[in-house]
Amino acid sequence: MELLDGKALSTKIEIQVTDEVKKLKEKCGCTPGLAVVLVGQDPASTAYVKMKKKACDRVGFYSITHDMPENISQEAIEKTIIMMNNDSNIDGILIQLPLPAQIDETKLLELVAPDKDVDGFHPFNVGRLATGLDGFVPCTPLGVMELLKEYDIDVKGKNCVVVGASNIVGKPMAALLLNADATVEITHIFTDDLKKHTLNADIILVGVGVINLIKEDMVKENVIIIDIGINRADNGKLVGDVDFLNVSKKCSYITPVPGGVGPMTIAMLLKNTLKAAKANAEDKK
Ligand code: GUN
Repeated sequence: MELLDGKALSTKIEIQVTDEVKKLKEKCGCTPGLAVVLVGQDPASTAYVKMKKKACDRVGFYSITHDMPENISQEAIEKTIIMMNNDSNIDGILIQLPLPAQIDETKLLELVAPDKDVDGFHPFNVGRLATGLDGFVPCTPLGVMELLKEYDIDVKGKNCVVVGASNIVGKPMAALLLNADATVEITHIFTDDLKKHTLNADIILVGVGVINLIKEDMVKENVIIIDIGINRADNGKLVGDVDFLNVSKKCSYITPVPGGVGPMTIAMLLKNTLKAAKANAEDKK
């Protein structure tokens, strides 16, 4: 069994991004800029946003967080997004999800300029991914593909079972795998007999937020496991959706939690923001 080390790869990517930021600054005096909208005080969201900001600082990006109260109005967030769409110092806009119940999430995601949509959540970019065209791809599934590539794991023709069908993870994960010629099954909360599906999988990619969902008897020998779940166990430790101790014995490769997919998500946010900044720099010429 070999661990897929997302921490190590993300460090490598950060060094590359830092280098490219320096070059971009020398070439056109541009500094990539990321704006984050954080609504409310959800501890997980607050922690993620802090990590994203720190990563921006490490690679030399300009970043700003719009910290908004839980009871903020739809109009106030919309105004902020429009302002950022029109701000030439901002290359990427990220709305941290989930949002409070009074907010129309779809409307906000559709308001973000598609060329600043570094999360890849705008329907324009979702459509481009579905058709296999270049665009912005959601950071977590993009990070998974980079991690597989780093370890020379080719998904072509492989049976890939995605567990979870969210817009953020499961659906774009399936699209990326399909674009890379994998055979893809998407399973979710209403799937009958999950084990029947996972037992057939060469690669299982799971991100639903259920501790120990994937157990030893649900996987075949030499399976590759990508654990996208992040859960807080009773003992306070971070764990994924896979019973790591027992499942890892049967794996050829597995991602640890923490240190697997998590750091890759942030690395891909940096890459997407750099990509947006480069395109904007070209436009300004
Ligand atoms: N909430 C959970 N994951 C994500 C993510 O990748 N991006 C944003 N914007 N919100 C999230």
